[in-house]
Amino acid sequence: MTETLNPLLNKRIVLGVTGSIASYKAADLASKLTQSGAQVDAILTAGATRFVTPLVFQSVSGRRAYIDADLWGDQAHVLHIGLAHHADLLLIAPATANTLAKLAHGVSDNLLCVTALAATCPLLVAPAMDGGMFSHPATQANIALLSARGVQFCGPEEGHLASGLSAKGRMSEPLTLLGRVRYLLARGAIAGT
Ligand SMILES: Cc1cc2nc3c(=O)[nH]c(=O)nc-3n(C[C@H](O)[C@H](O)[C@H](O)COP(=O)(O)O)c2cc1C
Repeated sequence: MTETLNPLLNKRIVLGVTGSIASYKAADLASKLTQSGAQVDAILTAGATRFVTPLVFQSVSGRRAYIDADLWGDQAHVLHIGLAHHADLLLIAPATANTLAKLAHGVSDNLLCVTALAATCPLLVAPAMDGGMFSHPATQANIALLSARGVQFCGPEEGHLASGLSAKGRMSEPLTLLGRVRYLLARGAIAGT
């Protein structure tokens, strides 16, 4: 199949996973992206590793998954630059309120955020958080700032949250995200961060 028929074919997608309960869904997303022909390099924040392990992502993607310790590892001076420059798309799913705030303000104190700062490819973000955290003026201001810079958002959706409440804050489903990635890569012309 050619890239015209399948825009994900051989595309390098850096999948940032952050410390949300929805991070378990990111493993399904990584699997779907991989099965669609993409090369998925997962980067887990320290928070994400409290919910899921790099092994999960390595197992479904067939590629190494990275954690913060890798920033200071053997490839230290090139890892984040290499990941950033080879990426066709940076997808952060789920994205916590904390990581959204860091992205908005250029904070680069972990492997994911430093990679995001170095990347020039399109950035697609799927927020996931409690309804109150999502509607908080600080989060909304961060989203507005990122949107103004051309960052694309998918979700969050209204629905059942881990707290037991129903509100807007639920991460978009992996299939929805897959469709959005397909659309963005096919269009091939969205702004970077
Ligand atoms: C059980 C649990 C669930 C959490 N879920 C979320 C969440 O869905 N969204 C969010 O923004 N923060 C959530 N947090 C808080 C984040 O993990 C915390 O802000 C952390 O510092 C995020 O770091 P990171 O953005 O580097 O992954 C949760 C924390 C716990 C203990």
